[in-house]
Amino acid sequence: MEKIISLAKRRGFIFPDSEIYGGFSAGYDFGPLGTALKNNLKQAWRKAIVQKNSSVVEIDTPVILHPAVWKASGHLGHFSDQLVECRKCHHRFKEEEVKDNRCPLCGGELTKPKTFHLMMKSFVGPVENEQSVVYLRPETCQGIFINFKNVVQSMRLSLPLGIAQIGKSFRNEINPKNFIFRTREFEQMEMEWFCREEEAERWFEDWKQQRMKWYLDLGINPKNIRFQETPKEKLAHYAKKAVDIEYHFPFGWQEIEGIHYRGNYDLKNHQEQSHDRLTYKDPVTQKEIVPHVVEVSAGVERTLLAFLIDSYEEIQGGRGKSSRQEKEIILHLSPSLAPYQVAVFPLVTKEKKMIAQAQNIFQELSLSFLVSYDEIGSIGRRYRRQDEVGTPLAVTVDFQSLQDQTVTIRYRDTMKQERVKITQLTEIIHQYLNQPKK
Ligand code: GAP
Repeated sequence: MEKIISLAKRRGFIFPDSEIYGGFSAGYDFGPLGTALKNNLKQAWRKAIVQKNSSVVEIDTPVILHPAVWKASGHLGHFSDQLVECRKCHHRFKEEEVKDNRCPLCGGELTKPKTFHLMMKSFVGPVENEQSVVYLRPETCQGIFINFKNVVQSMRLSLPLGIAQIGKSFRNEINPKNFIFRTREFEQMEMEWFCREEEAERWFEDWKQQRMKWYLDLGINPKNIRFQETPKEKLAHYAKKAVDIEYHFPFGWQEIEGIHYRGNYDLKNHQEQSHDRLTYKDPVTQKEIVPHVVEVSAGVERTLLAFLIDSYEEIQGGRGKSSRQEKEIILHLSPSLAPYQVAVFPLVTKEKKMIAQAQNIFQELSLSFLVSYDEIGSIGRRYRRQDEVGTPLAVTVDFQSLQDQTVTIRYRDTMKQERVKITQLTEIIHQYLNQPKK
């Protein structure tokens, strides 16, 4: 973890939040490369869940919803953890994190568990009182349930159908920890799949497999990812059945995504609380039903951390005979996730014509790809800098390029270099990025 945290900071992926004030609330800021990686990750999810699926649509709802939403959803009543505090060092933990009533840090005795509510509170309007209390959403999916009727009617959808949302969620976690793994502010990528009750079990299995395939297709090592069924006594208040997708982090196997069969708990409760009809009229039987829901819910930051860790390789002594490095770092990120897909370098910076040619290539490629342009330092150093942030391809413009309009293209994982025509670059890169996973 120390290596990942250090790389993340050094190369502009992730910084401690409010660092100039000493950091805040175990929060993190995403730098330029972290933001690009996050955007690519969300885009890859969107592509797999929404774009490729004619029965799934995406919406975007506020963080602050009507407070009645949280009463109906059960969060006001049930969304809490059991908190224990060490009498000696005063660290606080979730009860499930400790054993034998002893502090995991100093061995001190712990207090009795207290119920601790996880939703973050705020106020709307100029007066702070009971009537103006609002909550920051602890999950994005409630915005989906309360829009079920609007979306189905306006989009003329029929069952089964999915409504997706990507956005921020907030939880007043007792013990945020493990870098960006557990924080108080995070993003979720959620999709609620509405279906007939009799088909729900089959869809649960189907989405389980689809979601696992997504991680594997994006390059996660199959040894580091697994399903973990949630035992009945640990199910969330809304779930009939749940399975987690877990990743093997350096701090152990931990959940990165939850797949839940929510029954029709949410629509039914919102119907009761709002006195509005949240039913679906079956076009064949003409019967009104409250659809059942299978949910896929992944955390953006957790997933991103899993991809960073899984793609990290450190080679002592560096790659290749000419390497004079103590060690080299390579992020073997999938090209669709990498912050840059291609880097463009002029071999030497004294040659004005070479710089102009490299900049033209940058302009041309940036119409289709995420491109980094770099003319600082030796070419070997520039390759290594790109390897370290996961750029899969690098294009170098040299003296020969000025004569015959060709460049070298170098591959991150194999370090293989090829000479290709500048006019063919876009096509070659497209082909490389879209090739099926081996
Ligand atoms: N709507 C269902 C739901 O919210 P969850 O299992 O509580 O289910 C789903 O959360 C995902 O959200 C988790 O698998 C995790 O990736 C992410 N997540 C939850 N709490 C988090 C936190 N405190 N920090 C970062 N990610 C979190």
